[in-house]
Amino acid sequence: SSSTSQCSYEEYKETADWLLARTEQRPKVAIICGSGLGGLADLLDDKTTFPYEDIPGFPTTASTVPGHAGQLVFGRLQGRDCVCMQGRFHFYEGYSMHKVTYPVRVFYLLGVKTVIVTNAAGGLNGSYEVGDIMLIKDHINMPGFAGQNPLCGHNDVRFGERFPCMSDAYDHELRALVKQTAEEQGCGSFLQEGVYCMLAGPTYETIAECKLLQKLGADCVGMSTVPEVVVARHCGLRVLGLSLVTNKVVTDYDSVEKANHEEVLRTTQRRTQDVQRLVSHLIPKI
Ligand code: HPA
Repeated sequence: SSSTSQCSYEEYKETADWLLARTEQRPKVAIICGSGLGGLADLLDDKTTFPYEDIPGFPTTASTVPGHAGQLVFGRLQGRDCVCMQGRFHFYEGYSMHKVTYPVRVFYLLGVKTVIVTNAAGGLNGSYEVGDIMLIKDHINMPGFAGQNPLCGHNDVRFGERFPCMSDAYDHELRALVKQTAEEQGCGSFLQEGVYCMLAGPTYETIAECKLLQKLGADCVGMSTVPEVVVARHCGLRVLGLSLVTNKVVTDYDSVEKANHEEVLRTTQRRTQDVQRLVSHLIPKI
């Protein structure tokens, strides 16, 4: 149950102190890289890399998904100290919501102020094309509706308040910076802005589920990001979210298309440079 799987403040602190003793970098920005988007971490200068299994308290990565490496990379991007999660923990891998979000509280204790989350997602909005980048303006926390919110359980006020606001989760100023940077970097023609809906996965959606999510006002669907954002907002971190539309969801019973991980990875390969350019040129403006 959530009450037994929770981690104590001291556990997060021990992890943060362990990292602080092993790098001189003091990042103000953390980046959580989505499926196939971890190449961003390779761009960092003066890297210090910690495989997740070496970091005390970090969830262990017995089950990794192709396209997800498992290491924390400190370094500089466009001259700014950053810490990058190359590979994230997914709920569908069997991690509790507390484990999925463990790194976010460690970032907070490291002194991070802003979290950038990226993901691969299915496009629900009919006007979106495969390869579009969606700036997340809001989310629908479906697992939360079903009782899987990472903030369930005891609330430690050293992280944040019992009932945090989520109506301002995706920072307005950062969204304006993304739009400006996308224009400058030639990404303006495929930048969208919309609502990300998280489902637990690992199954892709049925046709009826896709139609339902469209009616609910979701523009993209995926299996990550929302838990990390909830925990980041709880402890007062600013959040920027980007979804890469890797496929269009199937909403037609006559369609022969099928959602599949290979298409997701093909699209991330095609667009990974654009996402990297967008994020790295944004960093000095934060
Ligand atoms: N559905 C859910 N998650 C996804 C999808 C999808 O179509 N594409 C990439 N991640």
